[in-house]
Amino acid sequence: MKTTLLLAALPAATIALPTWPWNKPHGHNKPLKYSGLDVLAKRAGLKYFGTAIDNVVLDNPTYISIAHNRSEFGQVTPSNGQKWMYIEPVQNKFNFTLGDQITVPAKKKGQLRRCHNFVWHNQLPDWLTGRNWTKPELVKVLENHIKHEAKHYYNDCIAWDVVNEAFEDDAVASLRKDIWLDVIGKEYIELAFKFARKYTKPGTKLYYNDYAIERVNNKSRAVAALVKDFKKRHIPIDGVGLQAHYTVGRAPSYDEQLATHKLFSDLGVETALTELDVRIQLPDNATLQAQQGAVYANSTKACLDADDCVGITVWDFWDPVSWVPSTFPGFGNADIWDANFTKKPAYYAISDLLRSYD
Ligand code: G3I
Repeated sequence: MKTTLLLAALPAATIALPTWPWNKPHGHNKPLKYSGLDVLAKRAGLKYFGTAIDNVVLDNPTYISIAHNRSEFGQVTPSNGQKWMYIEPVQNKFNFTLGDQITVPAKKKGQLRRCHNFVWHNQLPDWLTGRNWTKPELVKVLENHIKHEAKHYYNDCIAWDVVNEAFEDDAVASLRKDIWLDVIGKEYIELAFKFARKYTKPGTKLYYNDYAIERVNNKSRAVAALVKDFKKRHIPIDGVGLQAHYTVGRAPSYDEQLATHKLFSDLGVETALTELDVRIQLPDNATLQAQQGAVYANSTKACLDADDCVGITVWDFWDPVSWVPSTFPGFGNADIWDANFTKKPAYYAISDLLRSYD
């Protein structure tokens, strides 16, 4: 069932629906036949509609046939395969197997690759976290890692998430207390961007990527201040990734998201929804699924209407592989294909929204 009718029945207080018509002329007047999300997104003016892909499901042929279906997904991000613990499991011994399992087939299919990530507090190898470092030593470790990973994926990435989740969720959005801040100090962020610019292919978009910055709030203002400072001091940065991990009933409205895109585009950087998903408090039902569809549609619409939002990536498309249930017990079904590989109302909500821009 398509979601459009269900959306109309939702209480306005729960979800702020975009105003009909969701239209912006783009000059395509041909009648629309069925098309995948990436085809529709490109017609609506985005560079891509993509998905994250995890290595743990690569042996599922149905999953693979959808993940690498270029009509649905014109871009992919490895959910895990390019993270530090897998890429450099032993100091200065690099292993690109898990990243390549995602990027190589994507390249063959003509799907763009967003690369994720160079620096994070999470999924670090024991050799890195299990001993003390001096600042010069850790700076060298950081540069060496970025250098080798950037070189291996030199022709692969349209964008890199250079630094991921550097801010805490506390009231003042302080910098996250992790090994990078402890040993190097806040300078680690700009060093990472400088190394990324030095070793990635010219033109690769260098992103700061974080969650809970999709409203104008303390955390997004802290990120904006970082971007403004970088621009002033000519530290390279090209984009801010709004991860967009949402919950039905608590997601930012269309207006809130649009204002956030503007907060960043006014500073001269592009934005993207880099990890979009919308979790449901279980048990699931048709009303919740319709509300979920409205959140996906609102987010898609805000990206389309923003000045410089280039694309949308869902943080996997298939419910069984979602990171949500293990992190938020009692929540789930955050993705746009269900366990039986059936497209959910959320899929059609995005698709309908994109079609309305044709
Ligand atoms: O590597 C083992 C594998 O050997 C084993 O077979 C499998 C069985 O469960 O577990 C595998 O490791 C898991 C890994 O994902 C691969 O699926 C880890 O236990 C699990 O913790 C890890 O979770 C990932 C999480 O980051 C780690 O924090 C999620 O898949 C991944 O989607 C998630 O992604 C993050 C983004 O990078 C940053 N933003 C938030 C987002 C969601 O947490």
